[in-house]
Parts: sequence; C-alpha cells; structure tokens
Amino acid sequence: MNPIMKYNLTKVISEEPHSTVWVCKNGDEQFVAKIYSSEYKKLWKNENAIFKYLTENKKSHKNIIKLIECFQYSETFYTIMEYIPNVSNLYESVLPKDNYKLINICKQISEGICFLHNEGILHHDIKLENVLMSQNRVIIIDFDMSFFYQQKEVNTGGTETYWPPYPWSVDLSYDIYSLGVLFYEICNDKRLPFNGNLKHEQLNFIKMKEDYRQSKFPIETMNILIKNMMLTNSDRRPTIREILLVLNAIKHN
Ligand SMILES: Nc1ncnc2c1ncn2[C@@H]1O[C@H](COP(=O)(O)OP(=O)(O)O)[C@@H](O)[C@H]1O
Ligand SMILES: [Mg+2]
Repeated sequence: MNPIMKYNLTKVISEEPHSTVWVCKNGDEQFVAKIYSSEYKKLWKNENAIFKYLTENKKSHKNIIKLIECFQYSETFYTIMEYIPNVSNLYESVLPKDNYKLINICKQISEGICFLHNEGILHHDIKLENVLMSQNRVIIIDFDMSFFYQQKEVNTGGTETYWPPYPWSVDLSYDIYSLGVLFYEICNDKRLPFNGNLKHEQLNFIKMKEDYRQSKFPIETMNILIKNMMLTNSDRRPTIREILLVLNAIKHN
C-alpha cells in the first residue's frame, strides 16, 4: 500500500513545477505533504538526507521545520512535515513596523541557521519564501537544495537573487550571503539590496551585485552587519555565530 494513503490530502497550499505542497490529515492531526514527481527525485533526495540525519541523531530546533517522514512509492516522492497553521511565508506576510521586532525575526532565523551550520548543513536556498512566520515564531523550511557542506559538491541551485557573486564558494559563507540579502529585505520593506530584474545574463548579474544600495535601516549596527554578510570575498563574511553575537548585542534604547 502507498504510505500516503494514511494521510488524507485536504488542500493545496503551493504548487510549483517540481512539487506540490498539501495540507493533510492523519486522524485528527494535521501535517504538510510535499509531493515530487520522478523528474525531481534529486530534490527529494536532498531533503530526505537532511531528514534522515536529523531524526537518526534526534536533533531538532524551534526555528527549523520538523520533518515527520520521507518515502517513495512508485515514481512519486513524498516528504511529510509538521503543519504550521495560520502562517504565511515572509514574502507574503506583512512585516512588523517596530525595528526591534524586525531584528528579532533576523535573530530567530539566525538561530535556526546556526543550528544547521553546527550540524554541517548548508541550507542553500535562504529567502523570504522559505521562512514562515506565525505570531511569535519564525520557522525555516524547504530543504530540497540543502546538503552537508563537507561534500564540497558544486551545486548551482536556489534562487538567483540570493546567489553570492562569483567565484562561488559553496560552503557555509554561501548561506551567510543569502541571509544578508534576506536581512536587507526584512529591514528595508522587502526591497532588494541591488537594482535590476531577476532574469538576466550571468554577466549582468555579476555587475548587478556591485550595485549595492545602502540600507536605510535606522539602526546602524544592522546596516554594517548586512554589508559585511554580503562581501564579495567569502572569507571575510562573518560566521553565523558572529552574526548572533552582533544581533544579541543590539539593545532597545
Ligand atoms: N510546514 C508548512 N506549514 C505551512 N505552510 C507551509 C509549510 N511548508 C510549506 N508551506 C508553504 O508552501 C510554500 C512552498 O513550500 P516549500 O517547501 O518552500 O516548497 P518549494 O520547494 O516549492 O519552494 C511555502 O512558501 C509556504 O508558504
Ligand atoms: Mg521554497
């Protein structure tokens, strides 16, 4: 029997060429089922590897979505995870006006990324759409681009806007760059830190990255942090622990 049969698929919450995300029910409990067709098996495998590692090592974190199970049946691939009701991703949600609440969102995302980096996991697709926000909790989702960074696999993926400039170092500093873009957006009414559109030739893309727009956030420490996270030289970007130290030191006046 197909293991998905124990879940009653109730509502589609997202539909993309590679996967469909459903709310589903097993008894009274609600879950989310992400379903991939066979062409996108590779993405499911990435997510599955992270899932297996975290469950086998009994690791979890409040700012990371909890995976329940991954399985395949015939040529379809499934990931079941906890369902967060009444949330939207940061792309769709209205962000708070208060600067310290915005910093708190950045802090929670960083705590989730710090957990992943400590486990050697590169998320590799950090962006507004992959962060859920409920009333007080921020949750990072979407591990289908993720991998263990020791593998040193050159894996182009994720979303162009969040790609660091060339040459890419596909290590933890890759996430730091994407996180810098994300922090910028959170602190600047979701505007990107550079001009230009998303569809462009690779060369224009590199040029675009030099066109950094100064962050207008009223707390200067945050602007400096973001700029450092987006440095072209990946060795000079701060680590996630250093970022947390800076964020934790920002106090209400
Ligand atoms: N566990 C969840 N609880 C609530 N909403 C979710 C959950 N997982 C995903 N979503 C919603 O579905 C969207 C797509 O999910 P995601 O895993 O990022 O798929 P994709 O690989 O297509 O980007 C998210 O941006 C979010 O709005
Ligand atoms: Mg996503």
